[in-house]
Amino acid sequence: MKNRSLLVAFLLIISGGGLYANPVEDGKTIFVSRCAACHNVNRILTGPALAGVDQRRSMDWIVKFVQSSQALIKSGDKDAVAIYHQFNQVVMPDHADLTSDNIKSIVEYINASTQKESDAPFVKPSKLETHYLPPSLQRDYGMFLIYLMAVGLLVALLLFIVRMNTIAEATRKKQVD
Ligand code: HEC
Repeated sequence: MKNRSLLVAFLLIISGGGLYANPVEDGKTIFVSRCAACHNVNRILTGPALAGVDQRRSMDWIVKFVQSSQALIKSGDKDAVAIYHQFNQVVMPDHADLTSDNIKSIVEYINASTQKESDAPFVKPSKLETHYLPPSLQRDYGMFLIYLMAVGLLVALLLFIVRMNTIAEATRKKQVD
């Protein structure tokens, strides 16, 4: 008995999840399968970047354009004609089967995945850290010692060469004498 009511509650929760489907998820599914070939939310591909599209166009306009962009362009809609020419008259295929609710959920998905300034792919100057540290005697003590030894060796070598030359000279002089 107890188990059965648990099961019922469980089933209710699962079906409830289905009833209150998340529009962003719905929009994502449609977007990925039918729009992503030409559109990215934040980047221009074959078609314009769609971030902020509901700010530059009315929802009604977006629904009409997505269902049949060519119909809207041929009706002489100024914005539709302009964006069509801006994208070299590439014809966006009709999606007449998408309802206005479908298209609204796509717009919700677009708004949810619009890149905020804070997660832009570049680092803000204030967040830049320097990785360069000026050389310091304390930190680079080992390197400094090696450097000193190298200089010392060079000096010794030079002295040695000079000395050898002097000896050779002296020997030659002796032979001449
Ligand atoms: C075959 C490529 C292609 C596909 C697939 C496509 N589009 Fe487009 N879309 C374009 C092009 C190109 C434009 C620019 C206008 C034109 O050339 O007609 C555009 C323009 C738009 C615009 C107008 C943007 C603006 O700034 O005014 C919207 C909105 C839009 N598309 C939404 C969608 C949605 C939603 C889908 C998926 C259901 C989709 N598009 C699928 C190519 C495509």
